[in-house]
Amino acid sequence: MSAAAAVSLDPPLAWRELGPQDLEEVDALHRVAMGPVVRPEIVKPESRAYFQSILSGRGRVIGAFGANLVAYGILQHDHAPSDRWEDELGVREGTPVGRLAGASVHPDLRGRRLQRATITARIAMAPRGMLLFSTAAPANTASWASLLAEGFNIHNIVLRYGGFARYLMVRDNALYDRNRAILVDPLDTERQTPLFAQGWHGFGQARLPTGAPGLLFAPPLSRPS
Ligand SMILES: CC(C)(COP(=O)(O)OP(=O)(O)OC[C@H]1O[C@@H](n2cnc3c(N)ncnc32)[C@H](O)[C@@H]1OP(=O)(O)O)[C@@H](O)C(=O)NCCC(=O)NCCS
Repeated sequence: MSAAAAVSLDPPLAWRELGPQDLEEVDALHRVAMGPVVRPEIVKPESRAYFQSILSGRGRVIGAFGANLVAYGILQHDHAPSDRWEDELGVREGTPVGRLAGASVHPDLRGRRLQRATITARIAMAPRGMLLFSTAAPANTASWASLLAEGFNIHNIVLRYGGFARYLMVRDNALYDRNRAILVDPLDTERQTPLFAQGWHGFGQARLPTGAPGLLFAPPLSRPS
């Protein structure tokens, strides 16, 4: 299984697809990764029942092991009726849509691009032609930075999971008009809303003059027909 983006470790991690037998470890890592304080404005807390349903067939899950599970990433293809995304994605009901629906990295192993490696692996797992998307809180820099680096561009800000702001990120294979790129503060929703309304997307990571994380926005270039 590919772990191309990850910084290599010694000894190397063992990557494999997870199944129902891995439920305890996935649930435990999710809790450790979230930390002692649940912050749904940054990460959606998931239930054990959700992980069970994903591991039993509603999705596919890639995991990396040292002595224990240290990273996982979910690719969900079977979506709950209350969790439809066709309208936001602008596709018809029935279009095969896969959501990168959660990833966790153990706090001791952060900073090695392991989430990115789970994204690479999930892209490879997805059936050909499936539209892939994900969500990330604007304040969750590591999450949106990893998705951007793997080709998921930011198409909108939506309110989800109980009214919290999330970027809608789509693997759109688009090229962007870099000559018109502008630098935006991801925490400045007022600035970004009219850009999304004009069809501009976030396509690259940069730094604000303060040194804080920034985003490059530009319109997608139309493809030659
Ligand atoms: C989100 C999470 C999975 C990322 O873990 P990770 O793979 O170790 O992420 P990294 O620390 O390698 O960071 C990824 C990228 O974000 C960048 N980044 C992170 N914080 C940053 C900051 N404050 N400023 C600028 N860049 C930042 C990193 O520089 C890195 O890019 P680079 O390697 O090209 O420099 C991990 O933090 C986690 O488990 N969090 C809790 C659960 C969660 O938020 N899951 C995702 C949403 S479901």
